[in-house]
Amino acid sequence: MKYSKIKALLESEKGGIAVATRGWVRTFRNKQFIALNDGSTIHNIQCVVDFENTPEATLKRITTSAALDIQGTLVESQGSGQKYEIQVTKLEILGDSDAEKYPIQPKKHSLEFLRENAHLRVRTNTFSAVMRVRSVLAYAVHKYFNEKGFFYFNAPIITGSDAEGAGEMFRVSALPFDGTPRTEDGKVNFKEDFFGRETNLTVSGQLEAETYAMALGQVYTFGPTFRAENSNTSRHLAEFWMIEPEVAFNDLNDNMDLAEDFIRYVIKYTMENCADDLKFLEQRLIDEEKNKPQAERSEMALLEKLNFVLENNFIRISYTEAIDILKNSKPNKNKKFQYLIEEWGADLQSEHERYLVEKHFKSPVILFDYPAKIKAFYMRLNEDGQTVRAMDILFPGIGEIVGGSQREERLDVLIEKMNALGIPEEELWWYLDTRRFGTAIHSGFGLGFERLVLFVTGMTNIRDVIPFPRTPQNAEF
Ligand code: 4AD
Ligand code: MG
Repeated sequence: MKYSKIKALLESEKGGIAVATRGWVRTFRNKQFIALNDGSTIHNIQCVVDFENTPEATLKRITTSAALDIQGTLVESQGSGQKYEIQVTKLEILGDSDAEKYPIQPKKHSLEFLRENAHLRVRTNTFSAVMRVRSVLAYAVHKYFNEKGFFYFNAPIITGSDAEGAGEMFRVSALPFDGTPRTEDGKVNFKEDFFGRETNLTVSGQLEAETYAMALGQVYTFGPTFRAENSNTSRHLAEFWMIEPEVAFNDLNDNMDLAEDFIRYVIKYTMENCADDLKFLEQRLIDEEKNKPQAERSEMALLEKLNFVLENNFIRISYTEAIDILKNSKPNKNKKFQYLIEEWGADLQSEHERYLVEKHFKSPVILFDYPAKIKAFYMRLNEDGQTVRAMDILFPGIGEIVGGSQREERLDVLIEKMNALGIPEEELWWYLDTRRFGTAIHSGFGLGFERLVLFVTGMTNIRDVIPFPRTPQNAEF
């Protein structure tokens, strides 16, 4: 029986209930007290073994991470650590765990060490909490869009187009059945294509989602995306999950409203449904920050930070206003925000974004109307001929969490832009059809799911919020 159910039962029947449970040993103290966890919550259930009547050989097998089947009586606990405990009447060891060889000991391990054991790290409190929160957040994403009348759309993973035009794609090759294709001198022939076509793993489902939005009205994707960019940072993965809504007849303001409403909803839902895990993660951060100098500690505790997002509108400013703020600000003395004063037209570096969000506004910020030159080809050109209807949402501690735009719906302007950037019309003929047949204004955005999980859990490295991170260092699992 799940721990959460046991708790509910006891509350209704007042102790002394016969129960059965299965789980994994977290700790075993004094040959008597097992802290058992079944994965359903952060809480362990204390199981008290009648050690005088249990063979020594069995007691020896109750080691960290052994799988147990326990039957007993649920009673109020005399101990101070928990309200209830199970007095064990029958104990079966389902699976042994050799204490000498088991890599995760009941002590604090570094996150780096745990990353090397990605298949076992989820057995720790921190990672089980993070992964439960991740799962609930994913559910909230689907719940939000379904409640709003969106249709879930699956974009292809293998694609012929480069949605972002940034050339950061992984090439897909079809290997012949007789093995890896080789050139005459025996080297791997990477030029082998996918059944005669050049294809890549998708960097974004947006272009395909646009075609669906122009028929179903409101759609969203939520799937894996791939970027062959330098992912050696705490914010980048080579494989990450992206949520991309696309809405016909929405302009950029509607798009910003949707993004804010969506982010608030999923955070609120997760706070309501993961209270224990978030409390645990908050305490974890508080404990960790005790070792840091005062100046480096965060100003808000985790739950306070999440509540701030729920209660305050994001600041909306144009790129041009942001550049003015950066130009007029004085470099920070402790060099944490040693930004360069930018000229209009330059792409913002993450330290500029962090300055705006963490120092200047102390709030999430939506930057809009970026210079056309630094943004993707599909964004709608403004009347000034210089800027596009783009928006990035910047979050404290994270930087960019959302990138989106109103799309260029005018066929002639879009073709002109593609020509200027050297994007062949033949490659995107199907995309251009949406502008040929019943074009209309439409908008959408992409939210990096792992960046959202980072924000909600307070973790600081993106490798720690996805089960098996794909980065240049981590691809063996
Ligand atoms: O800003 P990006 O590149 O926008 C797009 O791909 C658009 N096609 C989205 C759209 O309008 N439908 O990526 C969107 C978001 C970023 O804001 C960031 O949160 C996340 O995806 N992201 C990454 N997350 C983890 N690792 C990476 N390498 C990421 N690259 C982007
Ligand atoms: Mg972006």
